[in-house]
Amino acid sequence: MSTNTTDKPRKVTTRRLTEMKQRGEKISMLTAYDYSSAKILDQAGIDVILVGDSASNVMAGNVTTLPITLDQMIYHGQSVTKGVNRALVVVDLPFGSYQGNSKEALASAIRIMKESDAEAVKMEGGAEIRESVERILSAGIPVMGHLGLTPQSINKFGTYNVRAREEAEAQKLIEDAKLLEEIGCFAIVLEKIPAELAKRVSEELTIPTIGIGAGGGTDGQVLVMHDMLGINQGFSPRFLRRYADLAGVMTDAVSRYIEDVKSGDFPNEKESY
Ligand code: KIV
Repeated sequence: MSTNTTDKPRKVTTRRLTEMKQRGEKISMLTAYDYSSAKILDQAGIDVILVGDSASNVMAGNVTTLPITLDQMIYHGQSVTKGVNRALVVVDLPFGSYQGNSKEALASAIRIMKESDAEAVKMEGGAEIRESVERILSAGIPVMGHLGLTPQSINKFGTYNVRAREEAEAQKLIEDAKLLEEIGCFAIVLEKIPAELAKRVSEELTIPTIGIGAGGGTDGQVLVMHDMLGINQGFSPRFLRRYADLAGVMTDAVSRYIEDVKSGDFPNEKESY
C-alpha cells in the first residue's frame, strides 16, 4: 500500500498540456504578476499562469509592452512562483532581451529560469527568431511561442487590429506555427486572428494552441487577469469577457473606508488594543 499521504495537487507540466490536447480537454491560462493574485488563481485551479509583459501596461501604466525590462519580469516571476503549487508558470521574455542575437536570448532565458523559478518562457515571433528559440530549447528551457498580434511589434504593425486576415499573412502564420512545433516549442499563443485560421492551425498542430481573441477552436484560452476581473476598465475589445467588476467593488470599499475614517467610526473599540 502506498504510504504517500500528501494531498499536493498534481503539477501541470508542459507534457500534461499536450496530454490535455490529446484528450480534448481545454487549457485555462491567465496572467498574474504578483504573489497574492497568483495564489488565488492557482487555488482556483488555473492550468497555466503567464507572467506576461502586459505587466508593462496593467502594473506599470505604460502604453505598450516595450518598456518593461528583464529585471522587472524576473521580479514579477519571482513573486508569482512563490504563490503557485499546481499551475505551470510561464514568463514572457521582454522586448529587447532576445531579438538581438541567440546568445543574448539564451542568457535572458537562463536568468528567468534561475532567478524566478519559472518553468518556461514565452517569445513573440516565428521564423525571424528561430535561432534564438532553438538555442534556448537546446539548453533545456521550454518555449511557448506567440503568433498573430504580437504586441512587442506594435510599432511595426501600427495598430492593435486583427492580424492575418489577408492570405499572405495567414499563410506565413501557418508556416511559423509549424516551424515552432517542429523545432520543439511546447505550445503557441495565437493572439487576435480570425477564428477559422486559429482553428485550422490548432487542428494541424500536435502541440496545444492557446487563443486570445482567436475564437473557440484553439486548445485553450488566455486573458489578462486585470481585464477579465474588471480591474482595468479602459480596455474593452470584443474578445474580452468580464467576469467581475473589481474596480467597482474596490471603489465602493475604499469609499466606505474613507467615510468611516472621516466620521471617526473606524477604528471602533473592538478594533483597538
Ligand atoms: O503579456 C501578455 O499578457 C500576453 C497575453 C496577452 C497572451 O502575452
